[in-house]
Amino acid sequence: MTFPDGFLWGAATASYQVEGAATEDGRGPSIWDTFSHTPGRVLNGDTGDVACDHYHRWPEDLGLLREIGVRAYRFSFAWPRLIPAGTGALEPRGFAFYDRLIDGLLEAGIEPVATLYHWDLPQPLQDAGGWPSRSVLEPFEAYVRAVGEHFGDRVKRFAPINEPWVVSWLGYGTGVHAPGIADIGQAVAAAHHTVVAHNRATRALREVVPGALIGPVLNQALPDVDDISDPFQQRAAAVQDMNQNLFWMESILRGRYPELAYEVYGDHLASVVQPGDLDVQPIDWLGINFYFNARIGHRLPNPVDQQYDIVGALIGGVPENAPVGPTTDMGWPITPQGIGDLLVRWTREYADLLPQMFITENGCAYDDGPDADGRVRDTRRIDYLRAHLASVGDAIDRGADVGGYFQWSLLDNFEWALGYAKRFGLVHVDYATQRRTLKDSARWYADVIARNAL
Ligand code: FCB
Repeated sequence: MTFPDGFLWGAATASYQVEGAATEDGRGPSIWDTFSHTPGRVLNGDTGDVACDHYHRWPEDLGLLREIGVRAYRFSFAWPRLIPAGTGALEPRGFAFYDRLIDGLLEAGIEPVATLYHWDLPQPLQDAGGWPSRSVLEPFEAYVRAVGEHFGDRVKRFAPINEPWVVSWLGYGTGVHAPGIADIGQAVAAAHHTVVAHNRATRALREVVPGALIGPVLNQALPDVDDISDPFQQRAAAVQDMNQNLFWMESILRGRYPELAYEVYGDHLASVVQPGDLDVQPIDWLGINFYFNARIGHRLPNPVDQQYDIVGALIGGVPENAPVGPTTDMGWPITPQGIGDLLVRWTREYADLLPQMFITENGCAYDDGPDADGRVRDTRRIDYLRAHLASVGDAIDRGADVGGYFQWSLLDNFEWALGYAKRFGLVHVDYATQRRTLKDSARWYADVIARNAL
């Protein structure tokens, strides 16, 4: 199976998960610093204080990217490194760090793909209300503008917000992510404000970055129930699809929310939408982060993924479905057909509104470490990636326009509420020594890239 010419092969990371250096060079606190330092919030009390020490070791990590042969690297800017208080003064040392990284990438012939917000909201902005409040909008736009003005000569591909569903529903709905609030009203308000912030960021970037290529990055999952002819299961599936997929697809691409959103969220939604909020800002690409189909009728062992609980809270209970087959270390089902189904579905349902799509994240956690000979034989990751890439290739054959694929993640890193316990990397990180080891999957991926084929 051969991929289209120029297919953008990449790997992804995010600032708080890899950088460390949490208090260095003027970086201000984010909600994830606060959250991870609150006892009981993150497994084993892990924090991102040091993480992969990428802030200092980025040249070595750049070497790893070169070795794997990626054409693009998706990373995120840490807002609290660039504007430590969230608004106001810029921190030149923060800008200098990303200057070094970006210049290094460009010298290596690797395209920088930048996320503006991968969850590290400056703490003062949460103190002012966070994503459920409109007070976040102005500072976000100013931050995005500052980033665009400074880096826009070298970075063209931008994603304003990574996974707005996770930002709103896990941060404010179930509270398993920072800032740890469990309140449906706040989650709905936050969800709406991610849309408004996305629109405003897109407009601002277009003003300051000539030739900018801007796209939302949405974590999507198709509903998966045992019996779609059963009315209760049908309802659960429809609500999950609205809650996680269509809320952002419809608002970003068509400038409206699904009817079902107003029906299910009621006044929580109606009360926060203001005129102009949903004015469509054309996008250049759609980024899809795909891990698994939403097995909403079955509680996954991992308490962090609570589509089950969210849908349950929204419709008053969820149907019982049979447990899924083998899962990854996250307890996530392995459903490779879902990634291709999504690509084909959007091609069909959004036809001419839909520009090119990218898989901006896809990967799996498996706890494989170095064997006695130092090699990391992570064959389960290779199997997972191969199956998902085959499904992407299949979708391309079925007419989907897919521009590239980013594996999550370059490095084992701080996996949010699960800390360092879950390893997603192509590269193994020994956290005690910060030693990096390419896993077998990295070598396999390098080969796929080199041949542009599976
Ligand atoms: C996604 C996040 C990413 C990583 C993967 C496993 O939801 O965007 O930071 O944690 O899941």
